[in-house]
Amino acid sequence: MTADELGEWRDEFPALEGTVYLVSHSLGCMPKRATEYMGAYLEAWQEKSIMAWDDWLPEVERAAERIAKLLSAPPGTVVMHQNVSSVMALLASCFEYTEKRNKIVFSEFQFPSVSYVWKAEERRGAAVEIVESSDGLTIDTQAMCDAIDENTVAVPISHALFNSSYIQDVKTITTKAKSVGAHVILDCYQSVGTIPVDVVDLGVSFATGGSVKYLCGGPGAAYLYVRKDLIPQFEPRVTGWFAHKAPFAFTMPEQRYTDSIWRYMGGTPAVSALYQARAGAEITGEIGARAIREKSLAQTARVVERVDEREFKLNSPRDPETRAGFVAFDFVGAADIARELGRHRFYCDHRPGVGIRVSPHFYTRDEDIDLFFEAIDALRSGRGTGL
Ligand SMILES: Cc1ncc(COP(=O)(O)O)c(C=O)c1O
Repeated sequence: MTADELGEWRDEFPALEGTVYLVSHSLGCMPKRATEYMGAYLEAWQEKSIMAWDDWLPEVERAAERIAKLLSAPPGTVVMHQNVSSVMALLASCFEYTEKRNKIVFSEFQFPSVSYVWKAEERRGAAVEIVESSDGLTIDTQAMCDAIDENTVAVPISHALFNSSYIQDVKTITTKAKSVGAHVILDCYQSVGTIPVDVVDLGVSFATGGSVKYLCGGPGAAYLYVRKDLIPQFEPRVTGWFAHKAPFAFTMPEQRYTDSIWRYMGGTPAVSALYQARAGAEITGEIGARAIREKSLAQTARVVERVDEREFKLNSPRDPETRAGFVAFDFVGAADIARELGRHRFYCDHRPGVGIRVSPHFYTRDEDIDLFFEAIDALRSGRGTGL
């Protein structure tokens, strides 16, 4: 598939009209089909009352299976949750810490809410080791591997870092973790939907992410993958009646976990978010990660060229092999310019330490990138954007 063919998908995203949309690493554009699917959710509720669950419950399964395909995961290994932070809390509740094995290893560039959850495990007896970056943008694979030892319980890592877009060497880190009996928990929020992801090939124990960004699904539809052989091995303390063997038996007080992946569910799922996220997950699956990555590589290279032409500071890897879907760059006054760009519907975002982040996605035209940088030039020279 060529870049031009992917451009045809713009018709599915009328919200692109009148914008330069380069913020899919933060909030993907709303697909047209989302309105239709949300309508179906509401109609079931309005017309069928309690019988709506006959529609809603299968959708909980279907949402997980759509994500499983995007992760290249086998059926029955994914459940839906509301956000990565709560998934991490659930996973943390799977582990016990002993004198011999109590270490959690993660990097300083784990997404903040993820870092907060694992750091708090110190209150339960965990010993947290944080691997620092030597350049402010990447995490050294060897430094991660060196920190993982026989005492290590879990290693939460990001597939692509939220600040710089750096793609971590997940396989090497996982191989080391496995050799000492530790579990890698992959946060693939910044990879799924923009680069091909195969959680089985990567060998991780768990993977999580959400639908807000490249999956164009809005908030509330996060997911958890558990490696098939590990599913029966844990009993999360963060749990609910949907994780029970026979939820409608209402037996108490103890949880009796179901054997399926639903043992990683909690209480009543947020069904409306799954209807909302359906369109984006479907479209991503229809296009395919390879075609999306191919176009992204060409267009992120164009962004890097524009950054270099202006002698801005590039804060993402120059090597496309280790750069995911967005490019970060900085210059004096970038935060104010980013805000101004947003007011003119040139959508990007800004993060302290790395500057402006921009992501072309499958619906981006080459000219959008050029228009974006021309708008930066105009704002910096005080000429406005011309819009
Ligand atoms: C790598 C990464 N993990 C997690 C999140 C979000 O976590 P949560 O779903 O808890 O809001 C983000 C972005 O918002 C992210 O970039």
